[in-house]
Amino acid sequence: MESNSDTYEPLLLAFCCYWCSYTGADLAGVARIQYPPNVRIIRVQCSGMVHPNLVMDALTNGADGVLICGCHPGDCHYREGNLRAKARADAISLMMEDFALEPERFRLEWVSASESPRFAQVIRDTVED
Ligand code: FES
Repeated sequence: MESNSDTYEPLLLAFCCYWCSYTGADLAGVARIQYPPNVRIIRVQCSGMVHPNLVMDALTNGADGVLICGCHPGDCHYREGNLRAKARADAISLMMEDFALEPERFRLEWVSASESPRFAQVIRDTVED
């Protein structure tokens, strides 16, 4: 995102699962809930399909932060996809450590389809961090 030394604006990528988090993001838009425009949302079928290499590629090629949003545990439409996302998030954290990347540049969050205010808050918090 455009920046100069006075008004740095981070660029975030958010991988949002189709069934819950993307719908929550969509509902935030419909409900006109304000959140920073710093995020580019990528819809994925399930949070469990986001390979760690996608996150590392983004972080090492210009993204300031990456967010993976999925259904709450127990609600994944593919049963255990979000549990896989959690395991991958742990691996991503270790990889980030190896690359000397700040841990706050990556987050995994659960956002349901009805949690549009929560989605907006997650974006605000991530941009702030
Ligand atoms: Fe949402 Fe799997 S379908 S996390």
